[in-house]
Amino acid sequence: MAQLALFGGQKVREKPFPPHPVIGEEEKRAVMEVLESGKLSTFIAQPGEHFLGGEKIRQFEQEFASYHDVKYAVAFNSATAALHAAVTACGVKAGEEVIVPPYTFTSTATCALMHNAIPVFVDIKPDIFCLDPAKIEPAVTPRTRAIIPVHLFGHPADMDEIMAIAQKHNLKVIEDSAQAPGALYKGKPTGTIGDCGVFSFQETKNIMTGEGGMLITNDDEIAEIASMIRNHGEVVLASQSQRTYRSDILGWGYRMTEMEAALGIAQFRKLDRLNNQRIELANYLAEKLATIDGLIPPVVYPFARHVYYVFPIKYSQDRVGISRNTFVKALVAEGIPFGAGYVRPLYLNPIYHEKKPFVYNYFGQDISYDKGLCPVTERLYEKELMLTMVCRPPATVADMDDVVTAIKKIIENKDELAEAGQ
Ligand SMILES: Cc1ncc(COP(=O)(O)O)c(C=O)c1O
Repeated sequence: MAQLALFGGQKVREKPFPPHPVIGEEEKRAVMEVLESGKLSTFIAQPGEHFLGGEKIRQFEQEFASYHDVKYAVAFNSATAALHAAVTACGVKAGEEVIVPPYTFTSTATCALMHNAIPVFVDIKPDIFCLDPAKIEPAVTPRTRAIIPVHLFGHPADMDEIMAIAQKHNLKVIEDSAQAPGALYKGKPTGTIGDCGVFSFQETKNIMTGEGGMLITNDDEIAEIASMIRNHGEVVLASQSQRTYRSDILGWGYRMTEMEAALGIAQFRKLDRLNNQRIELANYLAEKLATIDGLIPPVVYPFARHVYYVFPIKYSQDRVGISRNTFVKALVAEGIPFGAGYVRPLYLNPIYHEKKPFVYNYFGQDISYDKGLCPVTERLYEKELMLTMVCRPPATVADMDDVVTAIKKIIENKDELAEAGQ
């Protein structure tokens, strides 16, 4: 039996996994072309179409909207900015409640706080890690105005059930599809089912612009308000011959640059190919892991196209015999990057307890951020979930084989790990 790297043995893998993102000639050419044109942001003080951004921004938006078969795509400098704009454009008011899952990136929930609205955390499903529709309705109050389902790790949430609840209670639905560009729910792209959808192009994402985001919608008003919010809230009407600097609503500097948009166009044209490669790698890895007792590879519902931003594994300490944290420590020592537990349940973060930087007059006594609020999420975070991001191109199946070899090596040596009290 090979000795574990944790105890001084040879690592399964010495070399790093292939770097991400892959920046090809197309991306380099596209960015250089913008730099050479000198038009780095044409959002500037011109009435008319320039209110809507430069040539590359508009092209990126048009291609993104057309792929998703929606009327509007509005580019932002991050998904966080797009989420903030979405909450505002959906008409959520200060003191109103927004239902969110706690197992997600921080800004799925802080976008409500940014608008002086109140995040209400509802637990997730233990198999696909997305909002549990059965737990949403009990959390709805007369103050609830919106739901933000997250298509976590690239698997779509249960949108039919979520939309039915939203319709019944007259709530807006903002899909957080930051981790799921190109994922499908019953044949429909994620982000197109709710009132609007938001995507991230931050550097680690399936397609990227360094930093960047997109909001898509079929709703004229949401699109218009979102465009104003990204432009400092200033209104520049096509009919005006001069910029008026008139601010009708509060806005922010949330514009994307032309370099990012050019990069985005090049990346976006590769989305389906890159996702297909992720799916192939993930299917390969999942099949190899399926026979290992105590590890459950990602569950994919029959209606779903999972795009594997992250490859999650559910872990059973009872079946394997050592703790998840020990398992992950041993795996990392073998040269396989894995994380234990994704993020801490968001409501356990100090901002929800110290409540310093926000106006908290609105918070009623009945909003809980206490430990125990979402037990499924807490169990996943503490004991049951491990994840890796190596399952993405340009990695190959040979790289996935190293993951499997390391996992099997740890299983073979689990008694030694248990004895060492690791
Ligand atoms: C689910 C989710 N929502 C929102 C965001 C925010 O994206 P950005 O970094 O583009 O602001 C992320 C980024 O990690 C995310 O994973």
